[in-house]
Amino acid sequence: MLIKRSPNGADIPFGSEITPQEVYESRRRFIAQMAVGAVAGSALWEMANRQAFAQVPAQRLAGKPNPAYAVPEKQTPFRDAASYNNFYEFGLDKSDPAEYAHTLKTRPWTVSIEGEVRKPMTIDIDSLVKLAPLEERVYRLRCVEGWSMVIPWVGYSLSQLIKKVEPTGNAKYVEFTTLADRTQMPGLGSRVLDWPYVEGLRMDEANHPLTLLTLGMYGQTLPNQNGAPVRVVVPWKYGFKSGKSIVKIRFVRDQPKTAWNESAPQEYGFYSNVNPDVDHPRWSQGTERRVGVDGFFNKKRKTLMFNGYPEVASMYAGMDLKKYF
Ligand code: MTE
Repeated sequence: MLIKRSPNGADIPFGSEITPQEVYESRRRFIAQMAVGAVAGSALWEMANRQAFAQVPAQRLAGKPNPAYAVPEKQTPFRDAASYNNFYEFGLDKSDPAEYAHTLKTRPWTVSIEGEVRKPMTIDIDSLVKLAPLEERVYRLRCVEGWSMVIPWVGYSLSQLIKKVEPTGNAKYVEFTTLADRTQMPGLGSRVLDWPYVEGLRMDEANHPLTLLTLGMYGQTLPNQNGAPVRVVVPWKYGFKSGKSIVKIRFVRDQPKTAWNESAPQEYGFYSNVNPDVDHPRWSQGTERRVGVDGFFNKKRKTLMFNGYPEVASMYAGMDLKKYF
């Protein structure tokens, strides 16, 4: 996201500016056409796309569709959701994660759950998948950079995991730490952020039924570039709150120090609720472009308060959302 400073102090424009959409789309078409001999539109085309953009073979991971959480809007095609990514551990360019994340090893994988809980645990990813019934939920994801997607995720409410570990009365926030392993993640050489990538939520936000512990998308395991093997998705907040490839979940008393907030506090607040009335200091947050759905020359669509999830508003009653942005 974001204009950041390179190690030599120069500004790096954020990823979408490094690779314009036409460029990565043509790269993508090229790879897919090579694979299938240009049979666009066929099932083979879709399969080839999935192969091209999920270099690591995915496994079927179905969730029961939950109609209460199904945005009735055109979904972003899988190939866009899996090739236009932010995952700085694999590079700053939008196409870098799809290109380089095959080095991420997602088995064995454990998540340690610790801090202010009565029942801390280290849980293996396969047990985490089975911890609660999987649902398919179609959510909007709005990136702070001004683009959005509609994605069918597979997972269950994070609250289901939270209740198993029995947080104590001191647990006021939840901190998510994601993997930072230089042997697997070439982007860690960049000092764009202070690694590991850490995100956090207030306890009520973490327990909100919308907050999804996410293990798959489009009926299959997460592609590495989308945060395999486990991430969170918090659909009323800007996408950077949804940390990928989580290794630790810690319940804490104080507001966690989160990666983007620490790096540029005046630009990325801890809350980061989608709010068209609070602009980023360097660009408007009033509109967005739906990746893979809206053409480049289409009029941008209006961004909705809380990304169109008004049911979360009561958590912020009485808070000045300009101050707590
Ligand atoms: N998680 C980690 N570990 N590293 C990242 O760079 N980028 C965030 C978020 N989670 C990021 C991350 C940002 S800025 C966005 S918009 C979303 O992931 C993008 O998710 P997607 O690529 O699956 O659409």
